[in-house]
Amino acid sequence: MMENNSRQHWRLQRDDDQIAWLTLDKADAAVNVLSVEVMAELDACLHELESEAPRGLVIGSAKSSGFIAGADITSFTTMKSQEQAAEFMRGCHTVLDRLESFKFPTVALINGFCLGGGLELALACRYRIANEDPATRLGLPEVKLGIHPGFGGTVRAVRLLGAPAAMDLMLSGRVVSARAAARMGLIDYALPERQLCRAARMTVMDPPVAHRPKWWVRQTNHKFIRPLLAHYLKKMVAKRAIREHYPAPYALIELWEKYAGNERAMMAEEALSVARLVIGDTAQNLIRVFFLQEQMKSLGKSSAFKAQRVHVIGAGVMGGDIAAWCALRGLYVTLQDQSPERIAPAIKRANRLFLNKLRQPRLVQGVMDRLVPDPDGLGVARADVIIEAIFENAEAKQSLYQHVEPLMKEGALLATNTSSIPLQELSTVLQRPERLVGLHFFNPVAKMQLVEIVAAENTATDVREHAAAFARQINRLPLPVASTPGFLVNRILMPYLLEAVVLESEGVRPELIDKVAVSFGMPMGPIELADTVGLDICLSVADILSQSMNVTVPDRLRQMVNEGNLGQKSGRGFYQYKKGKAVKRKLDKGLFVAADIQDRMIMRLINEAVACLRERVVTDADLLDGGIIFGTGFAPFRGGPLQYIHETGSGRMRDVLGKLESNHGERFHLDDGWQSL
Ligand code: NAI
Repeated sequence: MMENNSRQHWRLQRDDDQIAWLTLDKADAAVNVLSVEVMAELDACLHELESEAPRGLVIGSAKSSGFIAGADITSFTTMKSQEQAAEFMRGCHTVLDRLESFKFPTVALINGFCLGGGLELALACRYRIANEDPATRLGLPEVKLGIHPGFGGTVRAVRLLGAPAAMDLMLSGRVVSARAAARMGLIDYALPERQLCRAARMTVMDPPVAHRPKWWVRQTNHKFIRPLLAHYLKKMVAKRAIREHYPAPYALIELWEKYAGNERAMMAEEALSVARLVIGDTAQNLIRVFFLQEQMKSLGKSSAFKAQRVHVIGAGVMGGDIAAWCALRGLYVTLQDQSPERIAPAIKRANRLFLNKLRQPRLVQGVMDRLVPDPDGLGVARADVIIEAIFENAEAKQSLYQHVEPLMKEGALLATNTSSIPLQELSTVLQRPERLVGLHFFNPVAKMQLVEIVAAENTATDVREHAAAFARQINRLPLPVASTPGFLVNRILMPYLLEAVVLESEGVRPELIDKVAVSFGMPMGPIELADTVGLDICLSVADILSQSMNVTVPDRLRQMVNEGNLGQKSGRGFYQYKKGKAVKRKLDKGLFVAADIQDRMIMRLINEAVACLRERVVTDADLLDGGIIFGTGFAPFRGGPLQYIHETGSGRMRDVLGKLESNHGERFHLDDGWQSL
């Protein structure tokens, strides 16, 4: 093989058959991303190939982590103007157009992640061959960052797949396996790893006819079909995202609708459209959320702790689901409760979860074998992590710890899922109080990514670090928080929920309250959320918070619980439930809506966020924003509560709070923390 060694990121070799093998190994990085330098070097390589054409070109990755994870997102945060962003996109277009224009066969050899710009690069090749291993994931997830593909991907995806499949891929941002990609025509072959290089070589030596969609699929890009399909797509998108909050999917549909008849024009417009989006607030905030998530992931890295066995005590709503999740993530789990009858429903739920996630009965059976009912608690002695999730009762928890601690092996973690009892209090009965840590999961466990890692002052540092590493091991985002009442998420969420209950008790319709919150960007309104969590649980958290904070529990909430209206689980809460779904009445068009409904709910949340930062419940503002977004779903496009203050202006927000306090009372009193923002 011949090679030019002067490059930093790409390696270009020619073999005896005159096939060029171009391999990306981005310098000083664990993952390949397409930075400005990587693209410039790629261009130089392509020039070289242009001047002395090989028989064919195979593009691959030298990283075990995958092919290419996408564009370099950090560069999106430093773009100052729309013109600068458009210039960058146009530069990338030129490089990939050069790749596409080669007369010799070009093959992308895909192993592992092939996302965003990485897939766009692969789409500029004539063929795509991927490792069929489940670790191979392909997709165009740009909408999740508030943009859409910008390296020519919109043009090439609709050309290759037809509009329905391509738009679905880009609008949902979902990733697909190699086999699914082969079925839809996104790649040519999904093969076992050992056959990949040979298949690439064969493809170059004897090129097959390149994939084209069937003629009727091609018609979906026709100018008469586009307006109809675009109308339908916009309707579908509108169910999930409001244009004012998430403009990218709408921009993508309009780009395709207007320009798909002319690829050159669509390419030029793609660059402008992405440039407009990327410098907008939504994209910048979603990019920020992406980095917050990365920051939280890295919190688990300071410890090499790796659990094999987990013992969960309490097989109720939370314990049962935590045990199932741990088994799904590859751990051996024993699940204890007071009797086998109490464990059985949790095992049944786990089976449903596994079926849903894994589909194949053989795989489901494998995970079921790792989840063992253990009414006698035999698993305690062998467990690396013990998670207690019994009733929210300090004495019950303490007497359990006294029994469990002497049986635990050295170095094992003792974790509690308590949502409100201070760890300082729970740990007093332990021989070694420093080993108790909170692993506070959220309901539903399989959906909520966040786990609060709760530490009291005396919790040992290595115990905190092990707990964060464990959260990462089970693919959850750890958020270190102090053991103060409500920790972070419940404390900030609760004033917002309670204000919604106050509004309801004043006669505002639940449907309207929820609608106002959703139009702010919340994934679900506070009334429906309270019903879903359970009004009894809300009440018990609110009662605990009211002991230490400026929180009054509305009588209405207590009354609902006393009457047995507990929300979704009892079939009735603020809403009626039919087949688990809230029955919502239509709102009259002419309904009077008080102007400050949204402010009342949101400002209580914001004010509490400021208080938490002042009290250092979390160590910094970024973690607070990340925690609230991943723990409550707080409007991600706003970048978190503190970022929202930053964008709106703290002066303006103080004024709003001042007005709310004079109109509605002391619960809107400005927290002292505003002074240091
Ligand atoms: P649950 O009432 O559904 O389940 C508790 C289970 O613990 C019951 O099955 C009970 O039989 C068992 N149990 C009680 N004492 C036991 C003992 N000594 N030994 C073995 N098993 C025992 O309760 P849930 O909702 O799952 O809550 C459990 C913990 O998780 C509580 O500390 C709660 O504050 C916390 N939590 C609850 C959330 C929720 O949304 N339900 C969210 C986050 C935390």
